[in-house]
Amino acid sequence: MENPANPVFLRYPGGKKRKVKSFFDLLPTKDEIKGRYFEPFLGGATVFFHIRPKKATLSDLSGDLMDLYRGVKKDPKGVWQKYRTLPEGRDAYYAIRNEDLSKANLITRAARTLFLNRTCFKGMWRYNSAGRFNVGYGGEDRRWVITEHDLVMVSKLLKGKHLLTSDFEQIIAYANEGDYIFLDPPYQPGESEMRNDHFGYMCFSFTDQIRLARCLTKASSRGVKWALTNSGASEITELYQDLHLLVLDLSVLETDKGERLETRKEVIMTNLTKGG
Ligand SMILES: C[S@@+](CC[C@H](N)C(=O)[O-])C[C@H]1O[C@@H](n2cnc3c(N)ncnc32)[C@H](O)[C@@H]1O
Repeated sequence: MENPANPVFLRYPGGKKRKVKSFFDLLPTKDEIKGRYFEPFLGGATVFFHIRPKKATLSDLSGDLMDLYRGVKKDPKGVWQKYRTLPEGRDAYYAIRNEDLSKANLITRAARTLFLNRTCFKGMWRYNSAGRFNVGYGGEDRRWVITEHDLVMVSKLLKGKHLLTSDFEQIIAYANEGDYIFLDPPYQPGESEMRNDHFGYMCFSFTDQIRLARCLTKASSRGVKWALTNSGASEITELYQDLHLLVLDLSVLETDKGERLETRKEVIMTNLTKGG
């Protein structure tokens, strides 16, 4: 069962909010994780909020994203205070987006990142070659869905958790027997072309996919349990064929109204056998 009290936090293209229901049963409960939980492609942290593990290392390559988590963990009310006083409208959005905050404190930067995420076009994260966020304005509709209470809740859930800005490879290497890793890298469901425009300069290439498969093969041999969501394209699934994983097709999405929507080919692969 999904935890009904999950906080509203980030909008995330490719996030697992709508799909997590279909693979709940493959995930361990927090009591089934004997060691540490790792989530190296954290994004909006859907699965972390669902499992709520006792010990966790949460990471992502995006420094802005991890600073947002750090800021909310440290001072959720301070982030909310800044966020709620940022002005509304298209002109204000571009002024705030283009402001140089490199010397600003963590709380100010966190509030700006949250603001951009809640008001930019479709919650996309895209940066130009100079590393500056360059998504256009999307409107205020999604801005006030979030409350101070949500940020306080996120902060509580992050208490005692390690937050790192890192490429996935170093993080997977930390995991040992008894630990569990959930991985949701950027990918285009069903596509053999692996560049995901939503993640701009941090495109996840096929070379990264090969690197990821090697890391997970090594982790399996250390006794680490994990689950990976990915494109169901054969180029990808073949990278894992020697591991004899449990594979669940995620291509059908059931909406809240019970309608079944066909999406492009997407799978979850895991080496965790429940009860085994
Ligand atoms: C699909 S999103 C994760 C969404 C998340 N599971 C959710 O439900 O909201 C993928 C994330 O991987 C991050 N990422 C991209 N390349 C990475 C890399 N090489 N190492 C670690 N994280 C990376 C992106 O910044 C993005 O936040």
